[in-house]
Amino acid sequence: MADTLAARHHDAAVDPESAARLAGTGLGLSVIANDGDDFAGWHDAVRRGFLDTTATPAQRDATRDAWRSRRLLGVRDPSGPVPQWPVGTFSSWIGMLSVPGGEVPSCAISSVTVAPTHRRRGIARAMMEGELRVAASLGVPVASLTASEAPLYGRYGFAAAASVAEVDIDIKRTGWAGPTPAGRVDFITREGWRAVVPEVFERVRVARGGEFSMPDGHWDRFAGTRADAEHPERLRAVQVTDPSGVVRGAALYTVTENEADFTKSRVDVQSLITDGDDAYAALWRFFVELDLVQIVHAAELSIDEPLLWMLTDRRAATVTVYDHHYVRILDVPAALQARRYRRSGRILLVITDPLGIAEGRFVMTVDDDGTAVVVPAGARATATITVEAGIAELSALLLGQVSARVLAAAGRIRATDAAAFDDVFRWDPPARLSYWY
Ligand SMILES: CC(C)(COP(=O)(O)OP(=O)(O)OC[C@H]1O[C@@H](n2cnc3c(N)ncnc32)[C@H](O)[C@@H]1OP(=O)(O)O)[C@@H](O)C(=O)NCCC(=O)NCCS
Repeated sequence: MADTLAARHHDAAVDPESAARLAGTGLGLSVIANDGDDFAGWHDAVRRGFLDTTATPAQRDATRDAWRSRRLLGVRDPSGPVPQWPVGTFSSWIGMLSVPGGEVPSCAISSVTVAPTHRRRGIARAMMEGELRVAASLGVPVASLTASEAPLYGRYGFAAAASVAEVDIDIKRTGWAGPTPAGRVDFITREGWRAVVPEVFERVRVARGGEFSMPDGHWDRFAGTRADAEHPERLRAVQVTDPSGVVRGAALYTVTENEADFTKSRVDVQSLITDGDDAYAALWRFFVELDLVQIVHAAELSIDEPLLWMLTDRRAATVTVYDHHYVRILDVPAALQARRYRRSGRILLVITDPLGIAEGRFVMTVDDDGTAVVVPAGARATATITVEAGIAELSALLLGQVSARVLAAAGRIRATDAAAFDDVFRWDPPARLSYWY
């Protein structure tokens, strides 16, 4: 299903309402052909928007190859001196978002930029609103993104549904208190990492809400095996195999030498993916016991890492939790029915939506097996719990990490029994997205 949906989404026309709004200010909204002549200017505009250098031809071609499956949008100002450079860019594609007990197609959004010369005139709003309407009209249940700045997307109904953790470990201060599993850790090439890691990731992706099917080109971007990779020579890779020789996990990292003190260098773990406790312990032990290193840094970790219980000195680790995976429900019944719940219940949801896409009254009936049926509710529908929420707040709850009690205490939702509502929605393990897109 997702493939057909992906193709229909890729080839859909632009949203007429947003096109008309932009045309009213002299700007043109269009889909940019991945293989067409306009790609180079579009790509340059995206890179400039994210403060990057102008692309070399090799970098441009590598991105074009990797992003063929993306739907690309550009906003043009024909009165500008270089009209081939769009003043607004946007990309999206259909992927699979892991939710508690399952997965759901989601419209992933990226490459959102507006030229500094044209900022704060409503161009980003026009692109976002239009593309959410396009996705909703095609029946995509959810949209999702990772954000450069936290205040940007709540206004469109997105909320941070998966927060993640960043950790700095002073390994000079701590020893290893975790297990020492059988199996072995070995260095591999970057190409070797690229070859083994997708399979490990696929084994765990759906088990953790918040993860997302890996976008085309991302594995090569991480591994530095794409022509547009920056400093791939800095990457080191290791894998862990179990006693029967099966690869159970792999990590990528970079080292930054401390020129003032060679014994206190820094390691940045770029990726650490394992499919079980043994591989997890083996790889983290490798990092915690490195010589000539003081700080080991890793980000996009879950908020419940066993790692913290594997250190002899818990205070050697500084943990920062931050918002990471933003989710926006476009179709309330389809999104809520895609996941499992912890308790049975009957809930009346009264949902508002600033864009009018997903608002309404719904009755959600959760069975003893944790599956839900969600249907539009008549004016007289009753339930044991009634919840009034904006679509952003409902979206925050979709992955089961955010507490409904906390949202109620923060004044973000109103529930007749927030604790009982929370009991239904909350899920363990907590959601996590292990990378950016
Ligand atoms: C973020 C960015 C795309 C906004 O583009 P823009 O065309 O100026 O945005 P709009 O004029 O459509 O603004 C839409 C709304 O967002 C708000 N907004 C825009 N940028 C904001 C910011 N950095 N912080 C807080 N609010 C912001 C506007 O005030 C406006 O609010 P309103 O419509 O509710 O009144 C643009 O500043 C940009 O390219 N930034 C650098 C690249 C980047 O970070 N992109 C986001 C990647 S996730």
